[in-house]
Amino acid sequence: MEDLSPYKDERTLLAVGDDAGVYEHNGTVYLHTVDFITPILNDPYLWGAISTANSLSDIYAMGGIPLTALAVVGFNNCELDLEVFKKVMRGAVDKLREAKTVLLGGHTIDDKEPKFGLAVWGVCPDSKFVSQRGAKPGQVIVLTKPVGTGILIKALKEGILSQEEIEDAIENMLELNDRASKLMIELGATACTDVTGFGLLGHAYNICKNSKVGMRIEFDKVPIYEKAVGLVQKKVYPKGASDNFSFVKNYLKTDLEWWKLLLLSDPVTSGGLLFTIDREKVEYLKEKAMELGVRTWIIGEIIKGRGMTIIN
Ligand code: CO
Ligand code: CO
Ligand code: CO
Repeated sequence: MEDLSPYKDERTLLAVGDDAGVYEHNGTVYLHTVDFITPILNDPYLWGAISTANSLSDIYAMGGIPLTALAVVGFNNCELDLEVFKKVMRGAVDKLREAKTVLLGGHTIDDKEPKFGLAVWGVCPDSKFVSQRGAKPGQVIVLTKPVGTGILIKALKEGILSQEEIEDAIENMLELNDRASKLMIELGATACTDVTGFGLLGHAYNICKNSKVGMRIEFDKVPIYEKAVGLVQKKVYPKGASDNFSFVKNYLKTDLEWWKLLLLSDPVTSGGLLFTIDREKVEYLKEKAMELGVRTWIIGEIIKGRGMTIIN
């Protein structure tokens, strides 16, 4: 995108390469983002709701509050009936209500492979936003949801697991990152992103690249769905996991087993926030996380230099 040097003006604060675009107008800072996904479950209501949480997440990752949304829909008119589409929209509308975000409209096209998501517009309170560029050596890295949803969804699609067996992952995917965003702002996080399609390592790498720092991640500290561990050892994982791993492998210093690296590379749907805070704030993090009802895991630290060191 940068090669094309798209038009920018003095109000463009951040374009391309972060979770959302940042634009200032009349002294107020706004965020703009779009995300859509293919079906992940057989349940259209849950797909609509999870996709909505996923689309809103990029606003929360930058410390913003979503205001309005437009639906982006690809549906095969012949094969999928209107009732299915209504259920997807009902899931979306319920999730948007929870997020106090107004659905202003949308656009639908005929598409063989269904897609659903939202373009979301939001605002930054006090005109402050958190990008992927502010991580500093010595800081700790915090994650707010477990990883491994890509593997679980793959197993569900192949009939290895039932929807009931991945109930905890579904609950987590449905959860908005609004409270996690409040937590990260309250803690004075200097860098933040949300963990989605590029996997934990892919998104961690984006923070390293944008902040010009390195990272040290401890595998044992990373929350992972237990069932995903067993599945990946039996070579059940989506192609995205190995694609993501290939993308980051040149930046890794590690002698971790292949399956552990695939777990950390697994594409996530509606994952948690990944942010960096000063080490002195760890006690306050625990206190505040409890108060806001957000689960947190400290998975590593920011180090000087480049590259990501992954230890057991
Ligand atoms: Co994002
Ligand atoms: Co996105
Ligand atoms: Co239109």
